[in-house]
Amino acid sequence: MSDDLRGLLEYYRDLGIKTLYRRAAPAAAVTPAIAVEPGPPPAPEPAAFEPPMPKPIELPSLQPSDDTMLKILADIGDCRRCRLHQGRNKIVFGSGNEQSPLVFVGEGPGADEDVQGLPFVGRAGQLLTQMIDNTASKEGIRITRASVYICNVVKCRPPENRTPEPDEMEICGQFLFRQLMVMKPKAIVALGGTAAKALLGAREGVTKMRGKWHSWRDIQVMVTYHPSYLLRPYNQNAKREAWEDLKKALHYVYD
Ligand code: URA
Repeated sequence: MSDDLRGLLEYYRDLGIKTLYRRAAPAAAVTPAIAVEPGPPPAPEPAAFEPPMPKPIELPSLQPSDDTMLKILADIGDCRRCRLHQGRNKIVFGSGNEQSPLVFVGEGPGADEDVQGLPFVGRAGQLLTQMIDNTASKEGIRITRASVYICNVVKCRPPENRTPEPDEMEICGQFLFRQLMVMKPKAIVALGGTAAKALLGAREGVTKMRGKWHSWRDIQVMVTYHPSYLLRPYNQNAKREAWEDLKKALHYVYD
């Protein structure tokens, strides 16, 4: 396999695309099932057939080489690629500083985000804002929520805020990956299991993965709890841990 083809296939694998389709080869001739009189012995086998060199598989370019956030937004358009479009009000592309060295990735819009078209503007969003602003200020790092970029794995609200299905993540994930490839941040904070799964193919739970560095295409990824999880009163220990995770990410990026 050529290096070019291997690179392309790895790129598609990182996009979460697991199945590539080739056009089917022409069907082999089938001997008709009719009785024939025994004839003369069969002619000798012809020389072994050398199949022609296969042509490289032509894959559509999911990420144009000169990609930009505006192009991604335009490509999303009035997206109807998956069932999530049916119940959405607004597509939630992302918000904040596109030049930021730090990007937060959540799961998908909730009710407030769906109305406003902006990520993390509801209760979980308020907690995320506090976490970023307060941790940065305590640690002497001069940033606020507005300094970073925030987006989600899926851009449309799942009904009843259910977890996105694997096919929805696969379809919408291509836009998240393009966003990350354009921004090329120094680090990503994956908020919760869905973001960890989309970026890292995580098979372990957040509790096991959090607080450690992982990587996605040479970008460091810190996994931590989703703010919605931290809002539940019985998860107060996790809140302290999430603060620690965020501290690590902020120092790594801004020190
Ligand atoms: N939860 C998320 O994962 N994303 C949002 O934008 C809001 C809540």
